[in-house]
Amino acid sequence: MQAFRAHLIHSPERGRIERIEDALVSFDDTGQITSVAPGDSAPATMDLRARGVLLPGLIDLHIHAPQFPQLGTGLDLPLEDWLFKYTFPLEARFANIAYARGVHDRLVRRLLANGTTTAVYFATIHDASCLDLARTCLRLGQRAFVGRVAMDLADSCPEYYRDADAAASVSGTARFIEAVRALPQNALVEPIITPRFIPACSDAALEGLGALAAETGAAVQTHCSESDWEHAHVLSRTGKTDTAALDSFGLLNRRTVLAHAGHITGADMELIAGRGAGIAHCPLSNAYFGNAVFPLRRALAKALHIGLGTDISGGHSAFLLDNARAAVTASRMLEDGTDPEKGAAERGAAGSRIDFRDAFYLATKGGAEVLDLPAGAFEPGRQMDAILVDLQDDFGPPEDLLQKIIMRATPDEIVTTWVAGRAVSGKDRPPVQSV
Ligand code: GUN
Ligand code: FE
Repeated sequence: MQAFRAHLIHSPERGRIERIEDALVSFDDTGQITSVAPGDSAPATMDLRARGVLLPGLIDLHIHAPQFPQLGTGLDLPLEDWLFKYTFPLEARFANIAYARGVHDRLVRRLLANGTTTAVYFATIHDASCLDLARTCLRLGQRAFVGRVAMDLADSCPEYYRDADAAASVSGTARFIEAVRALPQNALVEPIITPRFIPACSDAALEGLGALAAETGAAVQTHCSESDWEHAHVLSRTGKTDTAALDSFGLLNRRTVLAHAGHITGADMELIAGRGAGIAHCPLSNAYFGNAVFPLRRALAKALHIGLGTDISGGHSAFLLDNARAAVTASRMLEDGTDPEKGAAERGAAGSRIDFRDAFYLATKGGAEVLDLPAGAFEPGRQMDAILVDLQDDFGPPEDLLQKIIMRATPDEIVTTWVAGRAVSGKDRPPVQSV
């Protein structure tokens, strides 16, 4: 049993921010919070009050681990060209396990330093690199969902980087699920079924993966209605939207994470809400590849589960708060509109904006809701995943502190990151061996 004495800020529900001065958060050896009480109610194992403010750890719902080396490049191309010119050649390099190990070690350390306590990853099509990513998360102490990417369709995947056939996509995924579940002392990492996106997968692969989802109960992730090209491609191939097609393949359920979803229809939203699936909103990536602004407020109004994703490297930042800011900015542009030639009244979509409070919720408890994960807030029964933030050059009133953290904190100002009550980055972390 441990207990941290600290000033806390969290968002137990969207739109509600709770700030607790001098609290005592107690948690057990598995990292589960047992109580949140006044600071002087019992002795603390650590007193953080003079060192910053404690927030729930950040939850990044969409990361391509093998794309970390190209972060910040190639975004001048449309998605379908970027994949062939930059991304598939880079991901193919992960056949070299020594190369994969180096990237994974640096990525997971970077994300922990940036305050990401839970990460949802696309890995590659290679068994060894996928398993190495899962092991790296375990070794460095990050909570994660790791997916072996399934992509078998010759028309949309290069010859040098695809599964041999649908059966290989399904059996490779099944093997990976078993391997992750068999990792010793694994309380942090789960496998996730990962058809790359419908254009890259045959109907047989998608059906097989849907059956595997039912059989194994594993979570599911994919890209959904990301761009004009992608959305139209799926419509012409299947006669359905991505959402409806995924549903018909058995891939839309309470444990599904749909990345982007910028072009989903009203009917898609109803279907997603009905299945309890969730959306990884990736506003930075969407600005480059999305061709439109995701109607976040409309989706929230339909009670969809929504969190945030960096989409490394479709987005150019490995810091989830950059996406929290981008979510606010994109929503403001959607509300006001973009064409000054039009009059103010007809330029935008009224009622589209979110603010920093909503963005904070999406980055923490909203992400947890998507994953059905007990984390994202300081409440009994949830995991002690947290970040200590110390804003430098902060002179303003205390009530502005959260706004400043969400809108302008830098990774340097994240002093320590804890996952399951264990310090995994920053000053309080014991050294972890490198690869
Ligand atoms: N659609 C299929 N693959 C990808 C990818 O790697 N990144 C993004 N943003 N979209 C995709
Ligand atoms: Fe992506």
